[in-house]
Amino acid sequence: MTARIIDGKAFAATLRGRVGARVAALSARHGLVPGLAVVLVGEDPASSVYVRNKGEATKAAGMASFDHRLPADTSQADLLALVDRLNRDPAVHGILVQLPLPAHVDAGAVIDAIDPDKDVDGFHVINAGRLAIGRPGLVPCTPLGCRMLLEDALGPLRGLNAVVLGRSTIVGRPMAQLLLQADCTVTICHSRTADLAAECRRADVLVAAIGRPAFVPGDWIRPGATVIDVGINRVVGPDGKGRLVGDVDFDAAVAVAGAITPVPGGVGPMTIACLLANTVEAACRQAGVPVPGDAA
Ligand code: GUN
Repeated sequence: MTARIIDGKAFAATLRGRVGARVAALSARHGLVPGLAVVLVGEDPASSVYVRNKGEATKAAGMASFDHRLPADTSQADLLALVDRLNRDPAVHGILVQLPLPAHVDAGAVIDAIDPDKDVDGFHVINAGRLAIGRPGLVPCTPLGCRMLLEDALGPLRGLNAVVLGRSTIVGRPMAQLLLQADCTVTICHSRTADLAAECRRADVLVAAIGRPAFVPGDWIRPGATVIDVGINRVVGPDGKGRLVGDVDFDAAVAVAGAITPVPGGVGPMTIACLLANTVEAACRQAGVPVPGDAA
């Protein structure tokens, strides 16, 4: 068997188009222009690229983008003061503080300071709690994108055995909550799981989010399973050139799985598309207007 390739890049492009249409409708009907503020502390090269891409995607969707680039030695008090200003700015509907933050800053305290209704990353404890008990809230972008890809590939996920590899607060835990909400039977695996191979082999849906290159071999995958690979690991190939690989051994998995996301071009592009969708949702909620339908 050769797995169907789940084209996250194409899906994300469609979603970004839909977000753009919603933004145009909000502007026409309500004079509402959703605004996203992105805060970067320091000059980490990978974070700088992510932040630039987020800003460009925000503007391309017709939204307002507010970039705040602060020096690496910015104090926690100054960062908290900026978050407080953004919380009170009516033109800002979404706030994203790029992680990781420098070591002298308490990232948890900064995330706690963001207004939960502007927390478009979905990292605030209030949004984690809303997700855990099934209340409406803002949901972390990467797992939200994964669930969209899964539902597009499989239809309703009800009754499926879903295994999530990784228990991070950014991906693994919210992913498990979203799969539970979709009526899957969910197992969360981690570095202390007794028999990872056996757990993975029971999965109809396997989500790998552990950040270790090609960690999941082909023989951990149940034939016909759907594999979502969240890993983005930079490795040096035998030719000495750098390339990106996921957490799953793609060449082995593609021969066993029913469907699989590639790296790159799978989950990655969905994260920014979902960030834009979350910003529109946050703006609508703050303005007390419905999110425009896709026909708009
Ligand atoms: N750093 C890496 N990914 C993310 C993300 O999704 N949000 C934030 N805020 N920082 C990140």
